[in-house]
Amino acid sequence: MTNIHIASATAPVNIATLKYWGKRDKVLNLPTNSSISVTLSQTDLRTLTSAATSPTFTSNKLWLNGEEHPFNDARSVQVLTHLKELRKKLELENPALPKFSEWYLHIVSENNFPTAAGLASSAAGLAALVVSIAKLYQLPQSYSELSVIARMGSGSACRSLFGGYVAWEMGQLQDGSDSKAVEIAPMEHWPQMKALILVVSADKKDTPSTSGMQLTVQTSELFKQRVDVVVPKRFKEMTQSILDKNFAKFAELTMKDSNSFHATCLDSFPPIFYMNDTSKKIIKLCHHINTYYNETIVAYTFDAGPNAVLYYLQKNETKLFNIIYKLFEKLPGWKSDRANYKQFLDQYTKLD
Ligand code: DP6
Repeated sequence: MTNIHIASATAPVNIATLKYWGKRDKVLNLPTNSSISVTLSQTDLRTLTSAATSPTFTSNKLWLNGEEHPFNDARSVQVLTHLKELRKKLELENPALPKFSEWYLHIVSENNFPTAAGLASSAAGLAALVVSIAKLYQLPQSYSELSVIARMGSGSACRSLFGGYVAWEMGQLQDGSDSKAVEIAPMEHWPQMKALILVVSADKKDTPSTSGMQLTVQTSELFKQRVDVVVPKRFKEMTQSILDKNFAKFAELTMKDSNSFHATCLDSFPPIFYMNDTSKKIIKLCHHINTYYNETIVAYTFDAGPNAVLYYLQKNETKLFNIIYKLFEKLPGWKSDRANYKQFLDQYTKLD
């Protein structure tokens, strides 16, 4: 009988409402500020990863969405090395355990959403990789401890270890052992929160996050103010708004933080542009909607790309969708493709 051991794990996509942007240590991937995210429902957007190991495997292999990819990028290798070290420790403590730490791995990973949709999939991907291997290796580490390893792979990945409302505490220690994700509240605390993703462009981003944030750290004056003053205050306020289920406050902080992050990108030299004209029209539309209802019912946030994530409460879904659908209906033969979407926004913003 072939001696193959397998474990699987899923990890959801998380979207930051208080952005991580900047590293104080590039090797350990330590951030310049703490951040907050909301994890999307596993049924909507998630990565499913299976990790297998066997003494018969002759190399590490990786399949992403059915296609084989080289398993050699520095970040994944660093993550793997850490997990292997933990397994080795376990094997030394329990000599009866099979020597997984010496065997190669085969990894099969699949997203339940189109990878080409331009949505951040790397966070969920790395989180699922770490959890599936940790399960396979039967590591005793908590999710927060595993988040430290996921963080080394990709900063935002550490937040995908948890569902619901999550903080990544930047930490103070030089070895990064306290720079980890913690749960602010589970999804059940405030289950009315919904996210709507508007895919503006599925193209690959101009400037990858990793190099973009380095440029900002090195060149933006505004960034210093953001990190020293703006984010620490906002971190406390946003945490409280989640605990209080105060949507108006949460939404205001989310929109302001997205704007502040993109302002530091513009203040980088040479400047980095992640949002396009359509993104800006979506921002305007959200403010119009909130003014129209005389109540904050929707918040926008943009990561390192032009796609929008809108947060709203379930009770306001009809109000929000009514406006969105009404505006879309104005276009004869409207279909949910990109060209028509842009046309819709162009038409809408001519109305004011
Ligand atoms: C704008 O986590 O992709 O989405 O740590 O270099 O892998 P690395 O960066 P990454 O950056 C995410 C940036 C962001 C904000 C956020 O998710 O907090």
